[in-house]
Parts: sequence; C-alpha cells; structure tokens
Amino acid sequence: MTSLPIDPPARLLMGPGPVDADPRVLRAMSAAMVGQFDPAMTGYMNETQELYRRVFGTRNEATVLVDGTSRAGIEAALVSLVRPGERVLVPVFGRFGHLLAEIAGRAGAEVHTIETEWGQVFPPSVLDDALARVRPHLIALVQGDTSTTMNQPLEEVGALAAKHGALFYTDATASLGGNPFEADAWGVDAASAGLQKCLSGPPGSAPLTLSERAVAVVRSRARIEAGLREATDVDASHGDFVRSNYFDLGMILDYWGPRRLNHHTEATSMLYAARECARVLLDEGRDAVVERHRVAGSAMLAGVLGLGLEVFGDVAHKMNNVVAVEIPAGVNGDAVRGELLADYGIEIGTSFGPLHGRVWRIGTMGYNARRDAVITTLAALEQVLRRAGVPVKHGGGVDAAVEVFAGAGA
Ligand SMILES: Cc1ncc(COP(=O)(O)O)c(C=O)c1O
Repeated sequence: MTSLPIDPPARLLMGPGPVDADPRVLRAMSAAMVGQFDPAMTGYMNETQELYRRVFGTRNEATVLVDGTSRAGIEAALVSLVRPGERVLVPVFGRFGHLLAEIAGRAGAEVHTIETEWGQVFPPSVLDDALARVRPHLIALVQGDTSTTMNQPLEEVGALAAKHGALFYTDATASLGGNPFEADAWGVDAASAGLQKCLSGPPGSAPLTLSERAVAVVRSRARIEAGLREATDVDASHGDFVRSNYFDLGMILDYWGPRRLNHHTEATSMLYAARECARVLLDEGRDAVVERHRVAGSAMLAGVLGLGLEVFGDVAHKMNNVVAVEIPAGVNGDAVRGELLADYGIEIGTSFGPLHGRVWRIGTMGYNARRDAVITTLAALEQVLRRAGVPVKHGGGVDAAVEVFAGAGA
C-alpha cells in the first residue's frame, strides 16, 4: 500500500488546544539531531532549564522537561512525590481534577476529593478546611481546567498547604503563559504544563518544576539502575523507590543534572520545540503575553455576547484563553462545529461529561491569541449560526471584539 506524504489541511485552531504552533517553533523542530551527550545538546538542555525557570517564575534548580504530553508531567509529579498509602487531597472543579485523582489513585495514594459545581472555583477558606480535615501529604489542584474554562486562584494555596504540612502540586497545562503564574511567590512545590496551549507549541513535552521540599521527597526515594550505579550510590531504604521507571523524577533529575546519568534518550525535536516556545514567550515578555491573552480573551467574550449568545460559568474566574459558550436551544452543536471546519477551516471544541453538547469551547491561545484570529472566528461563527436559524445580531460579534481591541490599543 502506498500512502501520501503528510499534508494537513489549512486550519485555524480556535478550540481548547492544541492550537497552531508558532512558525518559529515549527522551524526549530526541523533542526538536525545531535547526540544526547553532545555538548551542543547538553547546552540546549541547560538553556531550556533556565528558560522554563523564567516561564514558571521560579529559581528552582529542578526545572526540566518530562517527555510525553502534559499528562506525563502530571504522572511524573504524582508518582514521584506520593508514596503508596499517603493521603492526597484533590479539589475537583472539572474533568482535569478527576484526572489528578485518577493518577494519584493509580500511584497508590489514599485520595480524598472535594468537589464544586462545574463553572465555579474554590474559595481559599474551603481549601483551608479540607486541608485541616484530610491532613494530606500533598494537595493536587488544577490551575486552569479547560473542561469548564475556570482559573482557580492559587495565590494563597501554597501558604495554606505549608500551614497544614502538605506539598502543593498544580497542573498548569492549560493556563501557563496566558494567565499569571508565579511558582515561587505562590509557594508551589511542583507544577507541570504542556506546550500545546498558551505556549504555542505542539503536544509532546511537559515542562515541570520542583521546589527544594519536593526534591527532598524525590531524593528520599532514590534508585539508580544497575549498570549505572556506583559503589557510593544507595537505594531508598525499605524499597521505597518510585514505582515507575520512566516517570521517576529522581532519575530524570540525574539525567538533566551534572551527573548526566543516562535515563531515556531526550526527545530531541521536542526539546528544540520546548526551548523555542519559551524563547518566543520570553522575547515578547511574560507580562505582555498574559496581557495579549487577556485582551484576545476579552474580545472573544465580548464578541460571543455581542452575537447574543450566552456564556457558561463564573466569568470573573474564567481563564484568559478560553470561553465556554452555551449552545442555543434547538441547535446541533456538533453540526455547527462541523460547518465551521468544513467551510472556514476553523476548529472550535465541545466539552466533556455534563457539558458535552451543552457548550462550545472557543480558545484564544498562544500564537492564536491574535486580533485577526478572533475577528475571523466571530465572523464565521455568525454566518454558520445564521444558517442554523439562530437569530444572531448582524455584525454584533465582530463589532464588539473590534471595540475591545481598540480600547486596548491593539
Ligand atoms: C488542564 C489540563 N490538564 C491536563 C491535560 C492533558 O494534557 P495532554 O493531553 O497533553 O496529556 C489537559 C489537556 O487538555 C488539560 O487541559
């Protein structure tokens, strides 16, 4: 059987991610391979660590990439930081909170969840009470849950966790870059992310950072593989080592650190991508990128409201980079998405579980947090909705969005 070379259709990806990668990132990915211990490669690795320290807002030495999609970063953090039988508290406000609970459970944790209605976030007092009641080893909390579009405030969570003797892990996959994130100032012990949302890259690499407290836990579970081990290396006592080989952050740190102990072969092209994603972001400036997402997200929000549509959830706590739009009664949400794709090459998303078929999720992320992308999407949506019989306001979406951009000087 013969097959054709890859030639994907032209798309404007305005869903909850992945979004279009920045052309700089795609170019970086096509650079030549070098060996994994070539000084050029180890130099790129060191640079990538420093770049992601700046992206995460941290001085954590232990800032690395985990190879795999964002879920690999989550799994590495939880399986490495939590021993079987330890208590983990997971406040769930959407699908990805359930994912943290699922992964912590598979790591053998005694998982305690608290839940709030989808479309809401947790006030600090509720987290404080739950920490006091559960007394967990670790609290695992999503920052931006793309399933509901909510952005959980994290500013106080690190201090609350520390007060109750817990480590604080957060999944910043969907939010990092497009919303404020300050690992050190917020007392975050571990955070992981992905490239395919506000970082303008492809899925497949998970930047991760660990505080010294988190590193101490990982180190206490150390194990070095036979064949690499030296006489002075000792395994964690009582066989307390991390149950996953691939996601053992101790071994990953030994590979990224001065010992350069071989673990996996770093995914070279993904490292190039991750490095360029961070460079793209930092060249523009961390605050400027958040502001660009804020403006584009506000314009999209104003645009869908201007069309006469309704928005799901507590908009005051919405992530900058995605909005959930209620599908009007009687409208087939999947048919509208299909027409946007077929006629305009524009992708928007649906959601999961209770929100599947109830909302569309429209992203303004990374490279696509742009005026032209927002306006094009709103113009196309207006046409498709009109054809579907929805009484949208003529030009109401584009006009409202243009006004927001004008107000922001964009
Ligand atoms: C908040 C959050 N966490 C985790 C994931 C899983 O990411 P991945 O599909 O890259 O493994 C996603 C993907 O949408 C997400 O939005």
